[in-house]
Amino acid sequence: MYKKILVALDGSEYSERALDKAINLAKAFNSQIILLNVIKTEELELVKQYSESSYALVKSHLEQTAEKLLVEAEKKAKKKGVEDVVKKVAFGDPAEKIVDEANNENVDLIAIGTRGLTGVKRVVLGSTTQKVMRWSDKDVLVVH
Ligand SMILES: Nc1ncnc2c1ncn2[C@@H]1O[C@H](COP(=O)(O)OP(=O)(O)O)[C@@H](O)[C@H]1O
Ligand SMILES: [Mg+2]
Repeated sequence: MYKKILVALDGSEYSERALDKAINLAKAFNSQIILLNVIKTEELELVKQYSESSYALVKSHLEQTAEKLLVEAEKKAKKKGVEDVVKKVAFGDPAEKIVDEANNENVDLIAIGTRGLTGVKRVVLGSTTQKVMRWSDKDVLVVH
């Protein structure tokens, strides 16, 4: 049923649980899992205006953090028996890139957390998740 599942990872406990659910689905349906982390460029652009060298440093730091996050997630998925795992890093607005990637990869499902790193409890759905649900016509699995 779900041949391709996109998991949106931001390093939060919510997205970790979305990954766990996606892994279970992938095992049941023999799906491919695409792990995506989006590096937010909004703040990064400000750093660039301030200092080119700081920009290069911050960017490479963010890339390393993203890679680490994805490698850990890949390890977990493979350890639990999912063979087809793809890692992706994108730059830009998280919601926009999640929606784009879901279209480009023609996924059947997007797995995402209710909240993320900001994690304000009184907010029912984080802003990234709200936008993804509004903008994408893909099914979305929102994990608490
Ligand atoms: N930069 C990102 N890259 C990939 N996925 C993300 C990113 N930011 C958020 N997400 C996904 O969206 C979910 C909800 O996060 P978000 O809406 O940003 O909530 P919050 O406002 O609490 O940070 C996360 O659990 C994660 O699945
Ligand atoms: Mg967030």
